[in-house]
Amino acid sequence: MAIQFNQQSKVFTLHTKNSTYQMQVDKFQYLLHLYYGSKIENQEMTYLLQYNDRGFSSNPAEAYKDRTYSLDILPQEYSVFGMGDYRESSLQVVNTDGSFDVQLKYVSHEIYKGKKGLQGLPATYGTEDEVETLVIHLEDEVTKVRVALQYSVFEQLDAITRSAVITNSGTGDMYLEKAMSCCIDFTNRNDFDYITFYGRHALERQMERTPIRHGKVSVESIRGCSSHQQNPFVILCDNDANEQNGECYGFSFVYSGNFKATVEVDQINQTRFVMGIHDTGFCYLLQREESFVAPEVIMVYSESGLGQMSRNYHTLIQNNLCRGKFKNTRRPILINNWEATYFDFTSEKLVSIAKDASELGIEMLVMDDGWFGVRNDDYSGLGDWFVNEDKIQGGLKKLVDEVNSYGMKFGIWFEPEMVNEDSELYRKHPEWCLKTPVREGNRSRFQYVLDMSREDVREYLYESITAILKQANIEYIKWDMNRHLANVYSSELPANRQGEVYHRYVLGLYDLLERLVTENPNVLFEGCSGGGGRFDAGMLYYTPQIWTSDNTDPVDRLFIQYGTSFCYPVSSMGAHVSAIPNHQTGRVTPLNTRGVVAMSGTFGYELDINKMTEEEKEVVKVQVETYKRNYDTINYGDYYRLTSPYGKERFVAWQFVSKDKKKSLVNFVLTKPEHNPPILHMKLQGLEPKKVYKVVGSEECYTGEALMKAGYRVKEQFGDYTALQVELEMCE
Ligand code: GLA
Repeated sequence: MAIQFNQQSKVFTLHTKNSTYQMQVDKFQYLLHLYYGSKIENQEMTYLLQYNDRGFSSNPAEAYKDRTYSLDILPQEYSVFGMGDYRESSLQVVNTDGSFDVQLKYVSHEIYKGKKGLQGLPATYGTEDEVETLVIHLEDEVTKVRVALQYSVFEQLDAITRSAVITNSGTGDMYLEKAMSCCIDFTNRNDFDYITFYGRHALERQMERTPIRHGKVSVESIRGCSSHQQNPFVILCDNDANEQNGECYGFSFVYSGNFKATVEVDQINQTRFVMGIHDTGFCYLLQREESFVAPEVIMVYSESGLGQMSRNYHTLIQNNLCRGKFKNTRRPILINNWEATYFDFTSEKLVSIAKDASELGIEMLVMDDGWFGVRNDDYSGLGDWFVNEDKIQGGLKKLVDEVNSYGMKFGIWFEPEMVNEDSELYRKHPEWCLKTPVREGNRSRFQYVLDMSREDVREYLYESITAILKQANIEYIKWDMNRHLANVYSSELPANRQGEVYHRYVLGLYDLLERLVTENPNVLFEGCSGGGGRFDAGMLYYTPQIWTSDNTDPVDRLFIQYGTSFCYPVSSMGAHVSAIPNHQTGRVTPLNTRGVVAMSGTFGYELDINKMTEEEKEVVKVQVETYKRNYDTINYGDYYRLTSPYGKERFVAWQFVSKDKKKSLVNFVLTKPEHNPPILHMKLQGLEPKKVYKVVGSEECYTGEALMKAGYRVKEQFGDYTALQVELEMCE
């Protein structure tokens, strides 16, 4: 039993393989957090609570003369604003009478095997053997605000998910001004490091690590999507935690809109972590008996470093978040025409790319932006989802049939959430975009954002996309989103509901995606937002892969993919080999290196293959074969970061090990070439110590133990950014 409740002491205990999470309903019926960390059996941690008079931390009415009882000090399971807890709140309401007070007390709970979905939202799922759920019902006796805190325990993966459902059971309307998903109070710690992933367009998820301090540190997005600038995944860990040692707590928000993740160290060195939808621009009207569902947070605990935490996330996301056929089916190696042609292409050009690509073992052609409406640059056409026959001569079916005739699948690009002013759609329905009535809206990439909260907008998009899918044998969709939200106002909602639009936008997006992915189970969806600007666990519920970055430079990708790997599996990271000099950085790197880096993701090409020399095409053939041969190890195996690109080592190295440990693929990129360099023995990980491994293509054999303890002797590389791959196979 992963979840236990002691009727006498009213203590809830959640156990995973290596962690324990505990809380207690106390004498006044408040739900207090007791402990989250390394597994402790047969002990209730109520003894950790300390009651002292802390001046200026007020006492709730029930405590009366007891000045030692304060909600400002005691660890809260779901912190509220208005009743004397001055730390970061999880819930903030405006009651029917205009007051802010909310006092949540335990009413009841339920425990069941399995896990239910979250209405309208993405969430992890699992069988009754994999996951167990606890729902704790809290209520404010006066206002009848109800909160159901949901905890699901994936015991084997050291993962606990949290979410909250807030219901207005009172007599009038109320407003939610903040409704976070997860709150944890660490009573005995102020010594964590906070690891976050910042970035910008074409340089997403750069790792940053800082010690926490008194006061608050937040990472957030108020851009209407999870954003390039900060990722909704953060880690709290020991100051000295590294890949293989130390306590780490990961928090991944299963949501693609505004978010906030705050760490606060309080006056007595306790640490509070709160994560959920950002409260800026958020004000949700709850009429009587209406509920608000706060999205899920996936927490993973590891006491053996960041590597294990990441591997647990990878397994959970692949098996219990991603859905559909493509979670276990080999995905095609694709070639995308964007960096090859940009907007300047015809069907003839696409077919010639497909033809050359098919001869090298590439399996799918993706037609990117520019095939629809009047779209010869990025100033017009978005919204007009019908084929531009000037470019696609003879229509889509003819093109797709021709591409198929070379044994190649066909994929297509959409940017459904957007509209250009210069489009038939905008001329017909200007009210369909997010825009305040009184002023001209902000343009970004010269486009406006469609109001995804509107059903008619979603219906139009559903019909248009479905009509395109019906025209031809389309097996992949790249779902792009190339600007952030501003002037967030829906012409369909009244004034007092405009604070709902950011969230309703995301719900609308999910609703449309849900419909399309369900009705098209054989179509592979890839998410995208100017590269990796909406790379989050929410999107992965609908699209099992996401274009990681518009930056295809393999050296920058070492950093981007490294940062991304802390939460997200390799099978989710779109990665392509592109031309040199690289279009984003101008850097020149060997083709081999571009291949090694791109095949640590959902592999593909994005260049004009017609322009490649015969010699280069031979290299591509070998890359394609290497990827296919190692597909299972890369995509379903365990991932080990051997070095950090931020470190001092000359090489950036990472390793894949198949689940049965029989195969491994080790990758090195030389980032700091040196003359007369020191010897490098790279310690590998995850192998079977007592087994012998053969280096494929050589006579070298070593025990797993030797490779892990003494290391693999890396053959010296010469020249900027050369790369090396070592394939290992266990000898029987
Ligand atoms: C975004 C995507 C690119 C490409 C362009 C097309 O930037 O990230 O891959 O599809 O849009 O406009």
